[in-house]
Amino acid sequence: MRVLITGGAGFIGTHIVDTLLARGHEVVSYDAVLASAHSRPPRAARPGERLLVGDVRDPEGVAAALAGVDAVCHQAAMVGLGKDFADAPSYVGCNDLGTAVLLAAMARAGVRDLVLAGSMVVYGEGRYVCARHGVVRPGPRAETDLAAGRFEPRCPSCGAELAPGLVAEDAPVDPRNVYATTKLAQEHLSAAWARSTGGRAVSLRYHNVYGPGMPRDTPYAGVAALFRSALARGAAPRVFEDGGQRRDFVHVRDVAAAGATALESVRDAGAGSFTAYNTGSGDPHTVGEMARALAEAHGGPAPVVTGEYRLGDVRHVTADSARLRAALGWRPEVGFAEGMREFAGVALR
Ligand SMILES: NC(=O)c1ccc[n+]([C@@H]2O[C@H](COP(=O)([O-])OP(=O)(O)OC[C@H]3O[C@@H](n4cnc5c(N)ncnc54)[C@H](O)[C@@H]3O)[C@@H](O)[C@H]2O)c1
Ligand SMILES: [Zn+2]
Repeated sequence: MRVLITGGAGFIGTHIVDTLLARGHEVVSYDAVLASAHSRPPRAARPGERLLVGDVRDPEGVAAALAGVDAVCHQAAMVGLGKDFADAPSYVGCNDLGTAVLLAAMARAGVRDLVLAGSMVVYGEGRYVCARHGVVRPGPRAETDLAAGRFEPRCPSCGAELAPGLVAEDAPVDPRNVYATTKLAQEHLSAAWARSTGGRAVSLRYHNVYGPGMPRDTPYAGVAALFRSALARGAAPRVFEDGGQRRDFVHVRDVAAAGATALESVRDAGAGSFTAYNTGSGDPHTVGEMARALAEAHGGPAPVVTGEYRLGDVRHVTADSARLRAALGWRPEVGFAEGMREFAGVALR
């Protein structure tokens, strides 16, 4: 099949391109090569790939890229927390206006199959259990608590410490920052498009993706890239809070395999459907453990725990990816220790 990948020159998009080409599909990539994501010119086109430079907010560019396409894999987005709130219009423009322009062009072109890069950020603070009150949803953490080093969210009813659990797709959404808000709006737009066109949309809610080709040290980069960049400079990774934040670190090759498999099967979904799948390794680790694993594999220096915090960060969010495993037969193949050892030695973008 012929697939259009928006954001195809990016970190995850590039791995999806390679996976699709290896599985014998035709690939058209479409990427604006944003300066916030690319410190250098983009990679060269792969043999068999058409790599177009263009913006998803540009209706003509998108319409041209859609010619002859069977399915769209929408990866283009501004990622990360950004510098400050002044970035909000750029996030909303690229991520939500861009998605609306793309979906409108797909509606006109009769392209009915969409796989969206979703994100675990839609869940906000993950899933917690209070010994007395069962499953609870703590609100955003107060700055006074964070400043005093009280990082764990507390039970909203009794104030007790909570046990973090795995979030499933039916967990309530609760985006806590601009980026998270735009990722949730992308899903709602995709669901609305599917209903009104008879299309089929799948959102893969990636957890913390890492691996070769990750963008280096910018305010838009993920924590694994920040640690990896520090180590490459000979500096200690700086771990915020107390390092006890739990995340699901999933390898980019596993995410790319999930994307390709979703593209191959999305046309079997019902007309007008929207389905979200958590895409995680199922093996949660703390940010502190990740820093130590990377630093050890790199041969030092050891991480420092700084107690710094960011108001938009959540404490714990870890995935239950059982639905994706059951529906698509997908299995993550790169384990945490092996993946971090590899990541400590590879080049960043
Ligand atoms: N990296 C993660 O851990 C993670 C986690 C959850 C979700 N995601 C999602 O995965 C997708 C890919 O992210 P990534 O980590 O590869 O980031 P990335 O920055 O490496 O890739 C995104 C690409 O999109 C392009 N882009 C941005 N705005 C565009 C626009 N308006 N028009 C055309 N191209 C545009 C950028 O130039 C970049 O090449 C994004 O949708 C992101 O929200 C990533
Ligand atoms: Zn309680």
